[in-house]
Amino acid sequence: MSVRHTLSLYRSRARLMRSAALGDPVARILAMPRGSAGYARYEKVRARGELVRGRSGTYMTVSHRVCNEVLRSDAFGAVPTAASKHVLTPTNGRLDRLVHPLDDSFASVDPPEHPRLRKIVAPFFTPAAMRRLRGFVDEVIDDELDRLDRPERLDLISEFAVRVPSRVICEMLGLPPSDHERFVRWGIEFGATVDGARTPGDLLRTRTLLTEMTEYFEDLCAVRALSPGGADMVSAMVAATEAGEMTRRGLVATCQALLIGGFVTTANIIGNGVVGLMQHPAQRDALLADPTLAATLVEEVLRLEAPAQYSVRIALRPVTVAGHSLERGTPVVTLLAGANRDPEVFPNPNALDLSRPNSRDHLSFAAGIHYCIGAGLARMEGEIALKALFARFPDLRIEGKVAYCPSRVIRGPYVLPIRPR
Ligand code: HEM
Repeated sequence: MSVRHTLSLYRSRARLMRSAALGDPVARILAMPRGSAGYARYEKVRARGELVRGRSGTYMTVSHRVCNEVLRSDAFGAVPTAASKHVLTPTNGRLDRLVHPLDDSFASVDPPEHPRLRKIVAPFFTPAAMRRLRGFVDEVIDDELDRLDRPERLDLISEFAVRVPSRVICEMLGLPPSDHERFVRWGIEFGATVDGARTPGDLLRTRTLLTEMTEYFEDLCAVRALSPGGADMVSAMVAATEAGEMTRRGLVATCQALLIGGFVTTANIIGNGVVGLMQHPAQRDALLADPTLAATLVEEVLRLEAPAQYSVRIALRPVTVAGHSLERGTPVVTLLAGANRDPEVFPNPNALDLSRPNSRDHLSFAAGIHYCIGAGLARMEGEIALKALFARFPDLRIEGKVAYCPSRVIRGPYVLPIRPR
């Protein structure tokens, strides 16, 4: 890392901390300790209005209406994450710089390229594809529940919540399940670095992560190109790359995005679901009495604890939002987790309520053209897993301290000690 990088890192961190100390609600959220719940801070933003400008010129909104408007508007485009700002090192000369799962995949691309790239993997996520996958998901969950069936205390996240979606996405991508441990480590590192490097240590972690992921997928795609025709997603993307529809950078990034996106956030539905039910025993009893409530439970859990707490957009042209005139290039942070607790849309917003009629109106999968491609998969996995978990272990309880993912963006426990029976 160059001296210039280190200085610029420290300067931007000092600016952020100064603004936070001066009470800037936007900076207070961007500077909050990783792994802490931001909900009280989000309410401070709500108290200031529908759209709030921070000292740095970045706007932020926790209004459901305004988040929706910004996410769906073609006046706004996707922005690279703060994570890759300083991470421009070449990768052994193979690609001109490290590949980032969000910044280099279709997640950060605007039309007209966006729909063209999204279409390459979209067939793997249709409702029909989900119906075909359902039997496999059932099998994986049954198998993983058998492993949990022990009298001792265990960590629900590493022993179940991460294993289920990780096995499913490995199957979809055609990745060896034996690499599971390394994927889990990547998932944790991704959560801890996606909101931007604040220290040289953060920068090093980001670089190490991106180097490992980039090299892994470059090698995997090269091997897959030698034996084309596979039915998995990586093979489909390799074929699209060979046909000139995708760049090599886009290919590697999209593999990374689908792997990380495929299990990190979904594991949080399970972890947040269990914590939520333990905190709301009447809702747990309701689920035990009527297991079909698992689908609503998933929506309520997604609403209350958005696994991706915010996303960012940038104005592509001058635009007026909630009475503010925004210049081209203005960033807007859409705080999905805050919009999900907007009392105008969700009365008594902080309660987990399985009889809420509109839980599904949450914005945890965002909205507009970047609406999460894996939403149907995550919902299916979350519903089957939570339903089966409580059917098998109705007396499951938390025993020990819950630790949250060290991230400001990713929200969910990454250590959840439980006793299943
Ligand atoms: C609880 C589970 C999940 C949550 C909360 C979640 C959340 C999100 C959000 C908020 C976005 C939009 C980001 C933005 O607009 O800036 C997104 C996009 C995306 N998600 Fe998910 N996700 C989940 C599961 C998944 C799964 C299972 C996959 C893949 C297997 C996946 C892959 C993606 C991809 C590729 C995009 C980019 C879509 C685009 O730009 O068109 N996600 N996700």
